[in-house]
Amino acid sequence: MTACTDTAAWAALQGHFEAHGRSLDLREAFARDAGRLAALTFEAPEVYADLSKNLLDTATLRFLLDLARERGVEARRDAMFRGDAVNSTEGRAVLHTALRAPPGTAPFGTEVHDVLEAMLDHAENVRKDWTITDVVNIGIGGSDLGPQMVVKALDAYTQAGQRLHFVSNIDGHDLMPLLDRLQANKTLFIIASKTFTTQETMANAHAARDWFLSQGGQHIERHFIATTTNVEAAAAFGIHTTFGFWDWVGGRYSLWSAIGLPIAIAVGAERFRELLAGAHAMDRHFAETAAERNLPLLLGLLDVWYRNFHGFTSRSVAPYHQGLARLPAYLQQLEMESNGKRVDEAGHALPFGTSPVVWGEPGTNGQHAYFQMLHQGTDVIPVEFIAVKTPSHTQAEQHRKLLANCLAQSQALMLGKTAAEAATEAAPTAAPDIDPAVLAQHRSFPGNRPSTTFVLDALTPRSLGALIAMYEHRVFTSGAVWGINSFDQWGVELGKALAGALLPRLKSGDTAGLDASTAALLQRLHS
Ligand code: F6P
Repeated sequence: MTACTDTAAWAALQGHFEAHGRSLDLREAFARDAGRLAALTFEAPEVYADLSKNLLDTATLRFLLDLARERGVEARRDAMFRGDAVNSTEGRAVLHTALRAPPGTAPFGTEVHDVLEAMLDHAENVRKDWTITDVVNIGIGGSDLGPQMVVKALDAYTQAGQRLHFVSNIDGHDLMPLLDRLQANKTLFIIASKTFTTQETMANAHAARDWFLSQGGQHIERHFIATTTNVEAAAAFGIHTTFGFWDWVGGRYSLWSAIGLPIAIAVGAERFRELLAGAHAMDRHFAETAAERNLPLLLGLLDVWYRNFHGFTSRSVAPYHQGLARLPAYLQQLEMESNGKRVDEAGHALPFGTSPVVWGEPGTNGQHAYFQMLHQGTDVIPVEFIAVKTPSHTQAEQHRKLLANCLAQSQALMLGKTAAEAATEAAPTAAPDIDPAVLAQHRSFPGNRPSTTFVLDALTPRSLGALIAMYEHRVFTSGAVWGINSFDQWGVELGKALAGALLPRLKSGDTAGLDASTAALLQRLHS
C-alpha cells in the first residue's frame, strides 16, 4: 500500500495546512462561522464531543476524511471486526470487540460467552463470600491498568465490605506493605497475566503464595485464582480455578475478558454486562456510522492532523472526575504501546511521527501543577477535557465549582489575554517594583491553544464502556492511517532480555563486557 505521505490527500492536507491550518485562529473562526459549533460537535453513544475548540475547520475534516479513504481505514476496520489477522507480526486476529458482542453475533461459537458467564458467576460467589474481605489483583500492564482504572471509576457501584487492591510493580514496596495489612484466610489473590510468564507478576505471585503459607493460610486452591491464556502454566503454579481468554485479545484490550474479573467482583455481574454493552454500542457506532459523523474515526484523524501537520508531540488528558484519575495512565499503554512504532507494516522506517506522548492528571490537580505550561509555555499541547454532568455524590455546589473550572480552562486556552488587556487589570496587591508594561507581558496569554471536551451525563458502567471503546477505536484509526501494526509491542522485549542477563550480575558483581556506565552503576547497586 502507498505510504500515507505519498497519498494525494496528504499533499492536499499539506497545502491546506500551509494556506489555512497553520494560521487558523480559533477566536476568528468562531466569529466568522456561526455554524462552527454545530459542524464540529458530535454525538456518539454516551459521549458528546465538542471538537470546535480545535485548530481545524470543516475543510480540514474533508481533507482528513479523504486521507482515511485513501488509506483504507474503513476496510481495515471491517477486517478487524471480521477477525482477519490484522496483527501481522504475530499472525493474530484482533477481536476485543467480540468480547462485548451480544451472544450469537461474534464470529465464534459460544466459547466467549461460556467463559464470561463462568467468570461472572465466580465474581458473584466471591461477592457473597463474607469470609473474603480483600481481593488482590496481581498483574501488570494490560493485566492491571484497565481493571484498576475501571474499578476506581466505578467506585460508586462497588459494594461495601470487600476491598480491591492492585499490585503491579516488581518493587517489593508495592506488595509487602499491602500484605502487612491483610489476613491470609480472608484474602483472595487473582494472578492476572495473559502469558503467565511476565517477570513482575510471577515474582509477586510467588511472594504472595509464600506469604500466604507463612501466615498459616489454608486451602490455597480457594485463595488463588488465575486469569490467563496460559492455563497450563497457571496449573503448574498450583492454581485450580482459571478463567481463560484467547491470543486474539491484546493485553491492553483485555479488560473486557476474564482480566475484568476484579471489576466484576467490585461492581457485580450486571454492572459488568453494562460496561460491555456500552463498549458494544460504541463498537457499532464505529463500525456503522458514516465517516463524517464517526467520532472515534474523527478523533484518530485529529491526532494525525496534530502530530503530522502541526507537529505537536504530546496530548494532555484532563478528566474532571476523580474516578477517572487512572485514565491517563491507562491511555498511556493503550496509545503509546499501540502506536509508538517507527516502521510500517512492511518494515520500512517511517518518515513522520506516530504516537504522541499522552499524559495527564485529574483536572483541577493539573491546574495547580503543569497547566501553567499549557497556558503560557513555548509548546502548544492539545488538551482533552472530560466533564461529567451528574456526580454520584450529593455536593451539588462543589460539583458546579469543578465544572466551572473545566469550562474555564478550555476557554482560557482558546481566548488567551493580550498584554493590553492585562495592562488594564489592577496590579497584584504586592506589586513589585517592575515596569507595568513588562508585568503585562508576563500576565498575558497567547490563547488559540486547542482542546477537545467530552461530556458524559454520568459516569456509569455503560458510559465508561463507551468512553474506553471510543479511545480504542481512535488509536486504531491513527494507526491505520500511519500504516503501522497497532497490536504488537516488540519495543518492550529488549529491556526484558537485558534485565534477565543483568540479574545474576547484580548478585555476583560481575561487570565483564558491560559498557562503562552500566558497569559503574551495577557496582554501586550490587549486593
Ligand atoms: O509490557 C508488555 C506487555 O506484554 C503488555 O503488552 C501486557 O499488557 C503486559 O506486558 C502484561 O503481560 P501479561 O498479561 O502477559 O502478564
